[in-house]
Amino acid sequence: MSLLKIEGLEKTLNSEKILADVNFSIDVGDTLVVLGKSGAGKTTLLRSLNLLERPDKGSLFFDERKINYSSLAKVDVDFIRSRLAMVFQNYALFNNKTAIENIMEPLIYGKRVSKETAQKIAQKLLLQMELKDKADLYPAELSGGQQQRIGIARAEALAPKIILFDEPTSSLDPALVGTITDDILDLQKKRQTMIIVTHHLEFAEKVATKCIFLAKGKILESNSAEIFFNKPQTQELKEFLKNN
Ligand SMILES: Nc1ncnc2c1ncn2[C@@H]1O[C@H](COP(=O)(O)OP(=O)(O)O)[C@@H](O)[C@H]1O
Ligand SMILES: [Mg+2]
Repeated sequence: MSLLKIEGLEKTLNSEKILADVNFSIDVGDTLVVLGKSGAGKTTLLRSLNLLERPDKGSLFFDERKINYSSLAKVDVDFIRSRLAMVFQNYALFNNKTAIENIMEPLIYGKRVSKETAQKIAQKLLLQMELKDKADLYPAELSGGQQQRIGIARAEALAPKIILFDEPTSSLDPALVGTITDDILDLQKKRQTMIIVTHHLEFAEKVATKCIFLAKGKILESNSAEIFFNKPQTQELKEFLKNN
């Protein structure tokens, strides 16, 4: 049984249908990459999954529970949010907090763990990611790549069922893309399930186990990474793969 299955997700913003009839499923340990041009609806899809936007229609099966988007109760919202963590495109760190405090914050205020436990979890992750020497630096004292990695550690610290990434490589120097790719492959080795939105093809090919091609809010193609990249079915995806 899938970890997460989305059926018939729809989202309208300002009377424009941004996402239409989105269906997909993801198993434990999968890295699902959502590819598509700018404006395709990729960010809106991630924001809909973690309920920063409320989908208008559709349902999900998550961790063996069925929830309808049109009748979300607070327990459903808590259920979904506690299982997901997001790594934002612009990092979204607290500028007035150090790297380690940024990792600890959602543990203390979201998961209600003690300060001591949060500190231990954060220290362990910083050590694993070879970022220990950055623990007491503020975001402004870190490079974009380092801020991104703190954002990843902050998500991982919550031990979510799925980590969502919005364009994790887009604000980075090409030289730093490899580091983020390695972080994601390390998470994959730990069987962390991930959904990654990107328009960066080379990066997608390195990390994806499954892929979705989104165009104008619709899934045009959905396949294992191998078939997706080597045997694209639609003209749209063929062109996207050729031109990116
Ligand atoms: N808050 C919003 N209100 C109205 N339209 C929006 C809003 N956010 C995004 N859109 C529109 O939704 C479409 C998809 O945007 P987005 O999800 O950001 O695409 P992507 O991440 O693939 O570039 C775009 O046409 C965009 O203009
Ligand atoms: Mg986007």
